[in-house]
Amino acid sequence: MGISFYPEKHILSLETANSCYQMKIGPLGYLLHLYYGPRCSSGEFYDYLHLPQDRGFTPNPYDLAEGRGFSLDALPQEFSCSACGDSRLPSILLHTESGICGVDLRYRRHEIREGKYSLNGLPSAFDADGSTSTLSVTLADEATGIEIELLYAVFEATDIITRSVRIRNTGSQAVFLDKLSSACLDLPFGSWELLHFQGRHAMERLPERAPVLTGIQTLSSERGISSHQQNPFVILCEQGATEDAGFCYGAMLCYSGNHQEEIERSPNGSVRLLSGIGERYFCWKLDPGSMFDTPEVFLSFSAAGLTGLSHHFHRFLRRNLCRSRWNNRPRPVLLNSWEASYFDFDEETLLRLAREASELGVELFVLDDGWFGTRTDDRRALGDWVPNPERFPNGLGHLIDEVNRLGLQFGLWIEPEMVSEDSALYRTHPDWALQVPGRKPVLGRDQLVLDLSRQEVADWMYETFSSLLRENNIRYIKWDMNRVLADLYSAQLPADRQGEVAHRYVLNLYKIVDRITSEFPEVLFEGCSGGGGRFDAGMLAWFPQIWCSDNTDPIARLRIQEGTSFGYSLSSIAAHVSASPNHQTGRSTPIGTRAVTAMTGAFGYELNPALLSEEEKSAVRSQIARFRELSPLLQDGLYYRLPGDSPCRYTAWSLVSPDRGSALLSLILTQPEANPLPLHLRLKGLQPDAGYRVAWAEFSGCRNGQPGLTLPVLSGASLMQAGITLPPMYGDFPAVQILFVRQENQPLRRQEK
Ligand code: DGJ
Repeated sequence: MGISFYPEKHILSLETANSCYQMKIGPLGYLLHLYYGPRCSSGEFYDYLHLPQDRGFTPNPYDLAEGRGFSLDALPQEFSCSACGDSRLPSILLHTESGICGVDLRYRRHEIREGKYSLNGLPSAFDADGSTSTLSVTLADEATGIEIELLYAVFEATDIITRSVRIRNTGSQAVFLDKLSSACLDLPFGSWELLHFQGRHAMERLPERAPVLTGIQTLSSERGISSHQQNPFVILCEQGATEDAGFCYGAMLCYSGNHQEEIERSPNGSVRLLSGIGERYFCWKLDPGSMFDTPEVFLSFSAAGLTGLSHHFHRFLRRNLCRSRWNNRPRPVLLNSWEASYFDFDEETLLRLAREASELGVELFVLDDGWFGTRTDDRRALGDWVPNPERFPNGLGHLIDEVNRLGLQFGLWIEPEMVSEDSALYRTHPDWALQVPGRKPVLGRDQLVLDLSRQEVADWMYETFSSLLRENNIRYIKWDMNRVLADLYSAQLPADRQGEVAHRYVLNLYKIVDRITSEFPEVLFEGCSGGGGRFDAGMLAWFPQIWCSDNTDPIARLRIQEGTSFGYSLSSIAAHVSASPNHQTGRSTPIGTRAVTAMTGAFGYELNPALLSEEEKSAVRSQIARFRELSPLLQDGLYYRLPGDSPCRYTAWSLVSPDRGSALLSLILTQPEANPLPLHLRLKGLQPDAGYRVAWAEFSGCRNGQPGLTLPVLSGASLMQAGITLPPMYGDFPAVQILFVRQENQPLRRQEK
């Protein structure tokens, strides 16, 4: 396993536990992709798959001696060139000062080394246990003096290969980069479907799946953030692939700004996937001697369907990406003030809320928006990060002390990247906001975006928020961001660097986040962007959890969380129980059902407990106890999406502990029926020859109370193949959670006759 070079074949082979990725230094030094798929047998080479063939109207390199059987246009590539004989999607677009376009890249050298490469200023995965190795392959173009270093890291145990591109200008004139993809994956054969995650505010990451047809499809966000509309994660799966079967490839971009994923099926039958920074507003000037790193893409292959692929990403993000101390710790149960009181609070009402929360067993009280400056609504005061003296006559420190006295830790909401026109900060530094000279800036939620590409703005931001954390006993921060970027012009950059603003913004954001999180390692940071507008691997490198959506309706959220789960682990999904009727959809649901949906690794409440009935309060106490009991499973469990019936009446999923000793089944009935057919489903991921018993089963929201569920001790094989039948549940959106535990030391034996 790892990385091998076979000099006699000119082949480089990357192997993880279950996959193999091969490339070949081909004729004239062109780097050809050979294979990405199951690891069949070590020491086998896949160059035999690509037969030389003269295909009409596919050009040949000038210096080719062997006739017309070799064309970049017809062969799979590791990094597609532009204007040099491959007319499919280019991985790079550039122009030089003298007007040269395109690159003709040939192999120069390669290096295999222990450990993981790092990137300048960008988040990237790390080697957690000394088993990662790096391959760097350098290609060069004579005409422009451009050198491209393709960087690969192999994470054997988690079945992930990371890929990034470093470009150097070794020539004598400036080069303008118009596009630079991080990964180029060519699948030369087969019929593929594209599964991607699109949406909108409060309805993020909804899966959409369709066959890849001939032509080009571009998915992207050019909003300055990874966005609610298009997540930077895509899957190519074999036609008809299911959760459990079929070849699947995933590409997750570790980046929080503009991105694009391009998929091209060429009429010659091959499919190309490119992933990288969005090109619409991107143009990076590369002076002679300078270099540029692209964000990293995480690639994974699963021969065992979509669940296998999700497991690779979940394990990898948990083990090899997030550096926070909180990554592997159980998270505190929190109560967030937003949906409880919005902007309508003072010290007294907050303390009432905190007192009620502490009586229910909540551990962390989070004060959301509205605590600073004159912020009594969402039209003002962003930038004035000083506690509002009218709301807190005794200061923020006093509120925190009082909250702590109630036995609760204190957390705070911030939105560092923004400024309101109506703020002292804007009045003092109007030029700090992104805006185009001579044009009124675009507003979003009545606010402007700070020009983070300016060093003084970045310095102010670091100072402001690090002092806030230094001066107050704050144990949790919710880092929000509530509008998209527009007006991509920075007063401090010269004309030929204005195409760098969006990427510079993200680079400086990462710098500040890195500085602040490293300085306050004990603070739990949660990412947020109007809910899940920046739910990406880039932010997860520092923030172990992200607010998944502003939609807290437990039924609508099922789709959002399920979509998110294809790439991101349950432990990173922040979810809360909110009031009923729900504030976003107006739907009423039982409190138990709300808790079943919200029971991810980062669980909490976002309501006013004083408005709960005594019965609901007691339900909340049990939910919190359950969450504590289930924390290890919610943190580390293997997540299974369980297919619904047809027509679909429920959403179900399970979490199985890594040692397969326990499994939590959750099911919510979304379409209750009269005279219902039996609810039958099969579990997944259990140990087939071990016996499992029901430790507890809890029904919530059933009009028929706690329906009886009596299951004998059953083998994992029976639970997975024969399945289980649940008793009928009546009511509005009832739910059930069942914890199965393995009978230790009592493996089931077949009954002897
Ligand atoms: C958007 C977030 O997603 C909400 O949870 C809340 O924090 C508001 N911003 C506050 O303005």
